[in-house]
Amino acid sequence: MKACSTIEEIRGLCLSARRSGKRLGFVPTMGALHEGHLSLVRAAKANCDVVVASIFVNPTQFGPTEDLAKYPRDFERDCALLEKEGVGFLFAPSANEMYPWGSVTWVTVEGLSEKLDGKSRPGHFRGVSTVLAKLFHVIEPDAAFFGQKDAAQLAVIRRMVRDLNFPIEIVACPIVREKDGVAMSSRNAYLDAERRTRATVLYRSITRIRQLWESGENSPQSLLAAGRAEFEKEKSVRLDYLEIVDPDNLDPLERAEKGALVAVAAFVGTTRLIDNIVL
Ligand code: PAJ
Repeated sequence: MKACSTIEEIRGLCLSARRSGKRLGFVPTMGALHEGHLSLVRAAKANCDVVVASIFVNPTQFGPTEDLAKYPRDFERDCALLEKEGVGFLFAPSANEMYPWGSVTWVTVEGLSEKLDGKSRPGHFRGVSTVLAKLFHVIEPDAAFFGQKDAAQLAVIRRMVRDLNFPIEIVACPIVREKDGVAMSSRNAYLDAERRTRATVLYRSITRIRQLWESGENSPQSLLAAGRAEFEKEKSVRLDYLEIVDPDNLDPLERAEKGALVAVAAFVGTTRLIDNIVL
């Protein structure tokens, strides 16, 4: 695996791979890698000739009171994991490399960026779409791989790629879960044993909704009430949102039809976790 930290270097590597006819698959991450990230690398490997991964804890997608400073970082371990999975190139830039002094240009996906996580994390999706637009320009992949875990992020990226005519295939990969159902996340590392147990309420509430839906209930009000009831039993976990939305435009649905996105976010202590299920 070739690791580099400058745009010039990674651009050169990607350009020569592309010129020799290789199909490039890109897996952007913020590091602190787990099986969820590695599943994206494996999907990219199966679908492309060369896998390019990035590790960049993107400051512009964190709010002023969020966890940018304490976000878990373990570069050596991440490198070893990526190398083992057969990643060809790793791009791990500094914040100054990605945002040189005087950067004032943003990419905003209006109408989507204010919904779900965007509602409770103002500016978050602007940071995500801006950094991904920059990374897409630098790497110019044929395909980019994202986790269904961040369903709202996926909707924002798909719309940006369509609106800005990036010739990139966006591939969504299934959520990888722990044995008890909790979606893998770098932020799970913040939880002590007790909170980690309480965190199962997110998955419990959305699977309860799916069960009810499978038994014929399709009123979002009734389904959401049942999902919220799970949170009532877990008082120490603060629900941020629980919604049943269209996965493309993230608008609430009047009927929970097949393909609807059931998305949840909640604070377990100060740790904000998300999860979702597609009906
Ligand atoms: P990060 O949280 O590191 O996630 C990188 C990718 O891994 C995302 O596409 C995310 O959806 C996927 N992922 C995380 N947990 C997963 C799980 N349990 N199962 C499957 N996929 C999972 O998302 C970001 O970084 C950033 O916003 C980024 C896209 C890199 C832009 O800065």
